[in-house]
Amino acid sequence: MTGTETVLAIEDLTVDLPLSGGGRFRALDRVNLQVRRGEILGLVGESGSGKSMLSLAVLGLTGIAGERITGRIALLGEDVLGLSPSAWRRLRGSAVGMVFQDPMTGLNPVRSIGSLLVESVRRHQRLDRATSKTVALDALRSVGIPSPEARMKAYPHQLSGGLRQRVMIALALINRPSVIIADEPTTALDATIQAQILDLLRARLADRAGGILITHDLGVAAEVCQRLAVIYQGTIVEQGQTAEVLAWPYHPYTQGLLDAAPRFDRPRGRLVPIPGQPPQPGDRREGCPFRSRCAHADEACAALPVLAEVAPDHLARCWHPLRAATSPFEDAV
Ligand SMILES: Nc1ncnc2c1ncn2[C@@H]1O[C@H](COP(=O)(O)OP(=O)(O)O)[C@@H](O)[C@H]1O
Ligand SMILES: [Mg+2]
Repeated sequence: MTGTETVLAIEDLTVDLPLSGGGRFRALDRVNLQVRRGEILGLVGESGSGKSMLSLAVLGLTGIAGERITGRIALLGEDVLGLSPSAWRRLRGSAVGMVFQDPMTGLNPVRSIGSLLVESVRRHQRLDRATSKTVALDALRSVGIPSPEARMKAYPHQLSGGLRQRVMIALALINRPSVIIADEPTTALDATIQAQILDLLRARLADRAGGILITHDLGVAAEVCQRLAVIYQGTIVEQGQTAEVLAWPYHPYTQGLLDAAPRFDRPRGRLVPIPGQPPQPGDRREGCPFRSRCAHADEACAALPVLAEVAPDHLARCWHPLRAATSPFEDAV
């Protein structure tokens, strides 16, 4: 059930990073996103578009020398940008949990699964060792890990990729955070395991947390995410209900992603790659970021369009949207 409580609010989030050759580039440009309790927001875009930067910012994990971060990030209404490292350590694992693509980077390799889980429960919930162990075993059971007693003694490298990813989800959820950030959590897994892990994330997020699922796979987004945001060169270019954005995209970049995605209902060989190169750090970025690759671009696109409502609860940032905006008065006539 999707509630109305906003668990994560990102407002005008801008991240400027230094370039190795001098100067700066804007990895995120005035990003606005909200996640409600019970909702999974999908974030899609090509590699290098700033998806991981956004997740690291929400977790207080950017830490790049010379970075400049402005805007606002509110977790359960509390401003978290600029918190001290110790304040972040208290929030991570309690208010906000994380699941990464590679569990080997998310799980400490020299700690047994049991000690990772028990330590997290003791730190955040201040329970005694015996109770924490019971909580840890329950967490492993809840993500479908067989013989959890035996698994508690295992080290991350002794588990298969699918089991490791389940452990990371158990760890992310064990202290009942309100927000989960999952950055390409199933990219490294085969299709069957991927479906199981996505089902699990969906079920565990459904009633008490909200989350952002980062993926480059529109099929995954379509299956799991109620709402979808499309990001290009650090700029949100389209946003709305997932089914609607994928069925009636307004932004040529979203259409490009759809045309480039494999689909079962289309014969092989019909994939149309987006022309041109994905943007590189330091590329000029005045006007619409997509204009150098866009078939519809003209002089108007030298200025950045606003992210405007094109239909109810559907936003697009384009001077030449692929279809006429729905009149807000249409239903009233
Ligand atoms: N530690 C870093 N230092 C400098 N630039 C970085 C760093 N991490 C990422 N970037 C740059 O930020 C941009 C966004 O990267 P990222 O968020 O990782 O993209 P995505 O996850 O969408 O593939 C890219 O241009 C990338 O090169
Ligand atoms: Mg990434």
